[in-house]
Amino acid sequence: MKRIAVLTSGGDAPGMNACIRAVVRTCISKNIEPYIVYDGYKGLVEGRIQKVGRRFVSEVLNRGGTIIGTARLNEFDKKEVRLKAINNLKKHNIDGLVVIGGDGTIRGANELYKEGVKCVAVAATIDNDINTKGYTIGFDTALNTITSLLDKIRDTSSSHNRCSIVEVMGRDCGDLALYSGIACGADIIITKEKKYDREVLYKEIRKMKEEGRRHVLIVTSENILNVEELAKDIQRETGFETRSSIFGHLQRGGVPSAMDRVNGSLLGGESVNKLINGEYGKMVYLLEQNLKAAPFEDVTKEKSIDIKYMYEHNAKVG
Ligand code: F6P
Repeated sequence: MKRIAVLTSGGDAPGMNACIRAVVRTCISKNIEPYIVYDGYKGLVEGRIQKVGRRFVSEVLNRGGTIIGTARLNEFDKKEVRLKAINNLKKHNIDGLVVIGGDGTIRGANELYKEGVKCVAVAATIDNDINTKGYTIGFDTALNTITSLLDKIRDTSSSHNRCSIVEVMGRDCGDLALYSGIACGADIIITKEKKYDREVLYKEIRKMKEEGRRHVLIVTSENILNVEELAKDIQRETGFETRSSIFGHLQRGGVPSAMDRVNGSLLGGESVNKLINGEYGKMVYLLEQNLKAAPFEDVTKEKSIDIKYMYEHNAKVG
């Protein structure tokens, strides 16, 4: 492996820059020439590929978005479009490709892989809509942003004795709504995974009003209902004054959280390792979060979890 290119595609996610940085610096530490592709698959198809050095990724860890740009390219599902991308990789003698993005990006990577491109993916999307028990890069930052916005909504909602209904992002995945709802003590969380019934909803809100609640907080995932209409319906049906908010793209920007930077760094480095080891057609990911219980005696022993890999990755990207 002599030349590796990296691209970010789909919705930007905080922590993508840490991942790009780790790819570039791990390449350099292994005597591989790093290349970046501007604006995702669109830039790959258009041949906007550039060799970069270590300094290109200086001072980027704390920056939101992606320094190499991103795009959505629906035409990438066409073979003739992908062929242009593959030819551009060949033109630059690029042997390996790291793609950073969400499920659409990884589907695109899978097609490239089936067509012979040595490709590894890192999941980065605020939606966390990837089929693993881990967390995608960007989810943690977006979750914290939403949590802080919901806290603000709660302040005003409670002051005015109102019901607030808030729509958060997630495309078809309810994780942002569910996790932020739990973090903020939302009264009702609506996601595609857990259907809701209008009449039951009204009944619950009426009950809360009767109990003397000063506010009701409802969090819903996007693409399920119209929050403005629902707010009017709730007010009419329950007598609880109701307001709606859509957080929109505010949720996607901002300074990445420490976890998104750490995960981006580890996974960026690991994606290069996978390419070097010949493990293509894979997405690298971290962490399993399951509820468990361990005896007091076990957990109070000296910590013996092997974190050598974290030091190794830091040496490469630091
Ligand atoms: O995939 C990330 C995401 O922010 C989704 O939550 C949302 O549905 C979508 O992107 C919005 O896309 P766009 O920025 O193209 O409007």
